[in-house]
Amino acid sequence: MALKRTALALSALFGLIAVGDALRCNCTNCEKNVCETDGACMASTYYIEGKEQHVRICINRDNLVPPGQPFYCLSAEGLLNTHCCYSDYCNSIDLKVPVPTMSSGGSWGLVELVAVIAGPVFLLCVLLMVGVFLFQYHQRAYNHRQRLEVEDPSCEHLYLAKDKTLQDLIYDMSTSGSGSGLPLFVQRTVARTIVLQEIIGKGRFGEVWRGKWRGGDVAVKIFSSREERSWFREAEIYQTIMLRHENILGFIAADNKDNGTWTQLWLVSDYHEHGSLFDYLNRYSVTIEGMIKLSLSAASGLAHLHMEILGTQGKPGIAHRDLKSKNILVKKNGMCAIADLGLAVRHESITDTIDIAPNQRVGTKRYMAPEVLDETINMKHFDSFKCADIYALGLVYWEIARRCNAGGIHEEYQLPYYDLVPSDPSIEEMRKVVCDQKLRPNVPNWWQSYESLRVMGKIMRECWYANGAARLTALRIKKTLSQLSVEEDVKM
Ligand SMILES: *[C@@H]1O[C@H](CO)[C@@H](O)[C@H](O)[C@H]1NC(C)=O
Repeated sequence: MALKRTALALSALFGLIAVGDALRCNCTNCEKNVCETDGACMASTYYIEGKEQHVRICINRDNLVPPGQPFYCLSAEGLLNTHCCYSDYCNSIDLKVPVPTMSSGGSWGLVELVAVIAGPVFLLCVLLMVGVFLFQYHQRAYNHRQRLEVEDPSCEHLYLAKDKTLQDLIYDMSTSGSGSGLPLFVQRTVARTIVLQEIIGKGRFGEVWRGKWRGGDVAVKIFSSREERSWFREAEIYQTIMLRHENILGFIAADNKDNGTWTQLWLVSDYHEHGSLFDYLNRYSVTIEGMIKLSLSAASGLAHLHMEILGTQGKPGIAHRDLKSKNILVKKNGMCAIADLGLAVRHESITDTIDIAPNQRVGTKRYMAPEVLDETINMKHFDSFKCADIYALGLVYWEIARRCNAGGIHEEYQLPYYDLVPSDPSIEEMRKVVCDQKLRPNVPNWWQSYESLRVMGKIMRECWYANGAARLTALRIKKTLSQLSVEEDVKM
């Protein structure tokens, strides 16, 4: 509707410009009965004192408002008949006299005469003012729209109203039904209005930055252009329908900025100031309650990831394949959020196939399950990947439990197998320890004296079986720890 009006205004404008500046018209009150204008010729006919009057004048372009239907060119039924035209002397025509409605009495008094003359003039003035106002208002609205259209695609401003925070946006999105993420053009606009603040991490894929968007913190993972496939894969996994969960890192946007010479690949997510679980455990020891919170939330996140939800609003089962303390973030409330889904695989249950990640990167060697190390894992069977995740979760639990402060005792932070393999171990070194010698991280005896640590120790051992199928499931661990949290009166 608005667009149609704009088009009309534009065509009228261009039409007039095309006519040029030197339009000649017949003119009733001019020298030589001719006038020149950049606008239109007008002829008008009306009654005064029962006599037909003809007026021919020029109308300047400035007075042709509103465009398309200038008030100067309007006829008023019964009072005046007006015609505007845009070629030389086109107003030479004789218009038909409108049917007079007030002249039936024949001779008019002074009052009628004034009314008939002043009325239309007054009307014209009012209409002219309204017209000018409408025209200007319209121009402004049009210009505004033009600007919006240049900056961002249609209807984006609905999502990105100035006062909206990211939480609002994500909420809008999760209630709008798609359940998989913000529309791509919104993601792009969000990503391009982020101001990077400081680098908070480096990895093989690139860098992680803290950024600001509308006053709030966001994390920006910037991939080097070589890692385009990892970037794409991770963005794809994060946008899996129904993936959002309080214990999985909240994804906000993916964007590929091409600045001419290279492409910057961004993944924008929630920012958690505690950083990774690895950093957190290095810095702090945890209480029993803190340990249960971390462990239970990690299990909840993993259970959600692994779980397949059927139906149109369902989600495929997803295996992480690179679970470790560095890939789990700690939120302000002491709960975990599983991150770094770049290596994840999804299970298509209908066809019973796995959409294996196209990049050939494998997980972190230190956390690889025995069947991954000795390559006996059945890659065709999706559950194998879930079992490998559980093995890694057991190692993460061991890292957490060591930092648990029970009765004033807690151990220093260590990576799993710190005492058995060198830093940055090779697959071969890991395989010897984990598969051949069948060694596992040490579960100290004193853990038996504390119920929570005893339960944690038991879970770990059941995560570490050489036979993947014998390991606990994430859901089972979640249930066991939920029970423990009730017994220990932990508020989640
Ligand atoms: C209009 O002007 C043209 C050119 O001067 C003239 O030939 C024509 O008679 C005029 N028409 C009227 C109605 O005055």
